[in-house]
Amino acid sequence: MPVHLYGQAADMAAIENVAARHHLAIVEDCCQAHLATAGGRPVGTIGIAGAFSFYPTKNLGALGDGGAIVTSDRALAERLKRLRNGGQADRYHHVEPGINSRLDEMQAAVLRARLPFLRQWTMRRRALAARYRAALAASPADEIQVPPELDAGHVYHLFVVQVRGAGARDDLQARLAAAGVETLIHYPVAISQQPALAGEHPANCPIAQRVCDAILSLPLHPALADEDVDAVATAVRKDAIKCGR
Ligand SMILES: Cc1ncc(COP(=O)(O)O)c(C=O)c1O
Repeated sequence: MPVHLYGQAADMAAIENVAARHHLAIVEDCCQAHLATAGGRPVGTIGIAGAFSFYPTKNLGALGDGGAIVTSDRALAERLKRLRNGGQADRYHHVEPGINSRLDEMQAAVLRARLPFLRQWTMRRRALAARYRAALAASPADEIQVPPELDAGHVYHLFVVQVRGAGARDDLQARLAAAGVETLIHYPVAISQQPALAGEHPANCPIAQRVCDAILSLPLHPALADEDVDAVATAVRKDAIKCGR
């Protein structure tokens, strides 16, 4: 299950290769990647199925929870439709155990109204991300690392940088907060470190934990003005130099 994290597609060619060798089905997690492409291919259409989230903060968000699965496998589509509806094939005829995961009508109405804007919102996200990249590339602070854009189909659900140096990320986050810039951490705890998995003896993933301690999500949404991004980038550049010193 590749996760197209932050809006950037996973390396699908490599994953397809592994999946083919081991006869595995690929299910794509597209929750942060509406309209993203991998080597020109839309995410969600590469594996057997793709799952999208419409949680309010997502690139296409409802007013409450919602989601969708896409698949070109007709039998799988029929089964998923049943499973989300208590396992019912017809009303009150449950052919297998299921859950209630129906998309609420009101959320569907909101999503239909917003969907026509998704492409322009995505273009705006891309433009703002390019602006951050340009502003931070000129940074005198090499403590700030902006990961490269690995695929032109990146849709920038989040704009995440890494801050080098012990304690430097938390220090920078505090300084930015004091300057009125809210930042977030996606995500603070590696999956392997989650207490929920403690009983499963998860692998030790030191790189994931190191990255968790360095990442910082800068503000990014389609309603941001160019000047907002410039102001955040200036604050990051200014405060990053002081961090950890
Ligand atoms: C990468 C990823 N996968 C899965 C989910 C879960 O989506 P939902 O909250 O709609 O169940 C989310 C959203 O939080 C996500 O960002």
